[in-house]
Amino acid sequence: MNAAAAPTDPPGPAPHTTREGWAAFVAQQPPRLDLLDAERLAELDQADRDAYDERRLAYHARLVVVATPMIDQIVTAGRRLVLLNRGQDTARRGLVVTGASGTGKSTAIKQLGKHHELLARRRRTAPGPFLPVVHVTVPPAATPKVLAAEFGRFLGLPLPRSLNQVNITNAVCDLLCELGTDLVLVDEIHNLDLTTRVGAESSDQLKYLAERIPATFIYAGIDVEHGGLFTGTRGRQIAGRFASVATAAFPYGSRPQRDQWTALVSALEHTLRLYAHTPGPLARLAGYLHQRTGGMIGSLSHLIRGAAIEAIFDGTERITRATLDRVILDHAAEHPRTSPRAKRANAASVGTG
Ligand SMILES: Nc1ncnc2c1ncn2[C@@H]1O[C@H](COP(=O)(O)OP(=O)(O)OP(=O)(O)O)[C@@H](O)[C@H]1O
Ligand SMILES: [Mg+2]
Repeated sequence: MNAAAAPTDPPGPAPHTTREGWAAFVAQQPPRLDLLDAERLAELDQADRDAYDERRLAYHARLVVVATPMIDQIVTAGRRLVLLNRGQDTARRGLVVTGASGTGKSTAIKQLGKHHELLARRRRTAPGPFLPVVHVTVPPAATPKVLAAEFGRFLGLPLPRSLNQVNITNAVCDLLCELGTDLVLVDEIHNLDLTTRVGAESSDQLKYLAERIPATFIYAGIDVEHGGLFTGTRGRQIAGRFASVATAAFPYGSRPQRDQWTALVSALEHTLRLYAHTPGPLARLAGYLHQRTGGMIGSLSHLIRGAAIEAIFDGTERITRATLDRVILDHAAEHPRTSPRAKRANAASVGTG
């Protein structure tokens, strides 16, 4: 058979930085799975039982987003800014979400975008196409043209090489004004290095887009306050217009901090669909789980979901400390002494005891 004609896997889901991918993300419901009772389970033949277990594995592999206080804070702050910015012709205010890698910045701004889009679509009465939210990421060493093209790519605009920066910028701004976009999420903002010429020019480009598109701009990036985003003449202007929210690992020092972490563990434990696991054991292992993950929500979610998959594979259908011990985590969590991220996380949890 000709290689070109060979059957191929269906294309994966579109990235959330495209209009289709974003729409799919907004429409996505939290994963659901009801456990069959023992009687129904016994009636399944081998093929059906395999298919059922496959569904349970896929369920645990999928991420559940837990509503954390940090997400609440970012959603509330973002929605307030959108309201305040309505009717402002210039100098609209924005929000910068800054923190170490893996502290949930991208997750939080996407939750804000989803929340806003669902509400905006429900309230919309005018007919015609509508695109309340745009979500882009800044590529490394982005030039002003590349940055404008990222917006064009989200919108699915044709971007022939012959188009110059001004053409692309105008097309993007005109279309976003037409589509009623009022929230723009820009992730990986740390890729704009204001100390380089190209970085400074791209920052000017972003500022220009923010002037022309009547929307609230939300930035997210790794430790941006140390990367020069707020320094120099350009930086001071950004600092004057953007509130910042810092994200960090969950601390585990004081009683309220430990309670908050335990509540997070418990929320994840309640999402499990295992036959022999009733919620409780994981919440009791909260201290161990904090030690293993350095208080990083992503590592915690990975650890618990990994252990759930292990428990289905080995047939025990419950998660114990031994199951958790068998799941290998990311380098930062497993090497707390050498990883800068985990060092910061540990510093935040001094007094863990
Ligand atoms: N509220 C949450 N509930 C469940 N999982 C979460 C939550 N927030 C973050 N995570 C998970 O934690 C991991 C890191 O989150 P995210 O990608 O949002 O971090 P980030 O700060 O943007 O990291 P980076 O700076 O590396 O881009 C991801 O696997 C994400 O799915
Ligand atoms: Mg991110």
